[in-house]
Amino acid sequence: MPESCLKFIIFLLFAVHLGASQKARITDISLKQIKEIGESTHLNCTAKDVGMSKVSWNKKKLDLTGDPIPISFDDQLTINDPRFKIVHDQDTYSLQISNIGSTDMGIYECQIFVSFDERPTSSVELLVRHPPVISEKLSTRVAQVAEHQPVNLECYADGYPRPSITWTRDGNVLKITSTRKEDRGTYYCLAENDVGKSNPKTVTLEVEFAPVISIPRPKVAQALDYDIELKCRVEAYPPASIVWLRHGNQLQSSEEYKISNLATVDQVTTSSLMIRGLERDQYGDYYCQARNSKGQSESRIHVFESVLPVLELV
Ligand SMILES: *[C@@H]1O[C@H](CO)[C@@H](O)[C@H](O)[C@H]1NC(C)=O
Repeated sequence: MPESCLKFIIFLLFAVHLGASQKARITDISLKQIKEIGESTHLNCTAKDVGMSKVSWNKKKLDLTGDPIPISFDDQLTINDPRFKIVHDQDTYSLQISNIGSTDMGIYECQIFVSFDERPTSSVELLVRHPPVISEKLSTRVAQVAEHQPVNLECYADGYPRPSITWTRDGNVLKITSTRKEDRGTYYCLAENDVGKSNPKTVTLEVEFAPVISIPRPKVAQALDYDIELKCRVEAYPPASIVWLRHGNQLQSSEEYKISNLATVDQVTTSSLMIRGLERDQYGDYYCQARNSKGQSESRIHVFESVLPVLELV
C-alpha cells in the first residue's frame, strides 16, 4: 500500500474519532466525599459538548431504593434548601452543599439530558460521619413467641461508619433458637461507631407458655372445725384462668369456700382456697387447675386431719 494512501486512512479514522467525540459527555466528576456534620462540599461535574442539552444533578439513596430526587437543572436549583447552591462555570457544574447533615448522605448523579435514550451520567457518593440512631421502624419493639420456638430480636441502626450493635452478644440480631420462659423480659440494644453511641433501645420479649404450677405445701394438716388455706402458684403467659376442683367439681366461693387470686410480679398468680371450719367430709384431695391458650396443668393438695389445730402464719 502506498504511503499516501495509508496516511489518508489514518486521517479518515481520526476524523471519524473526532466526529464521535462531538457527543455530549461527562469528562470529570469529583471523587467520593466523606464529610463531618456541619462541613461543606463542592461536587464538581465537568460536561463537554453539551450543546443545547441541559445538565442536572439528582440525588439517589445509597441503597439505590426509591426514585432519584432532582436537585438542579441547568443553572437552577429545583429544591428549596438554602444550603444548596449550583455554580455553573464554563464546562463545570458545581453543586455546593453547606452545613451538611446526615440526611445529605447519598449518591449525587450528574446527568446530561440529550434525549430520553441518551443521558450520559456520572455519580459521586457523599458520606457523612455521624453517630448511630436506632431505627424504631426496622427494629423489634415487642416480640411474642411460644415457648421452645425460635425468635429473632432485631436492632437496626444507621450511622456512618457502619455501627456495631451490641446486645448481650454481638450482631444486629439476637437469635434465640429455642425460647425458654426464662428468656422473657426486656433486652437492650446499643449501636456504636467511632463518631458516637446511639441511645439504648429496649426490646421486650414475651414468651407464651403453658401454665406451670407449684404448690408451696402439697400436704396440709388441720383439726376439725378450724379454717385452712390452700395455696397454688401459677406461672403462665398469657395469664391462666385458675379453678379449684374437689371430686371433679369446680368449687365456687361460698360460705364454706373463699377463692382469691392474687397476681404478683412476672406473670405469676397465686390462687388461694380458704376452707372455713373444716368438716369431716372435707378432708382429702383438692386440685388446682390452670389453663391458657398454650395448655393446661393440674396439681393436687392433700388435706388431712390433725389432732391439734395448726395456726396459719399469714
Ligand atoms: C471542585 O472545584 C473547586 C474549584 O476548583 C475546588 O475548590 C473543589 O475542591 C472541587 N471539589 C472537589 C470535591 O474536588
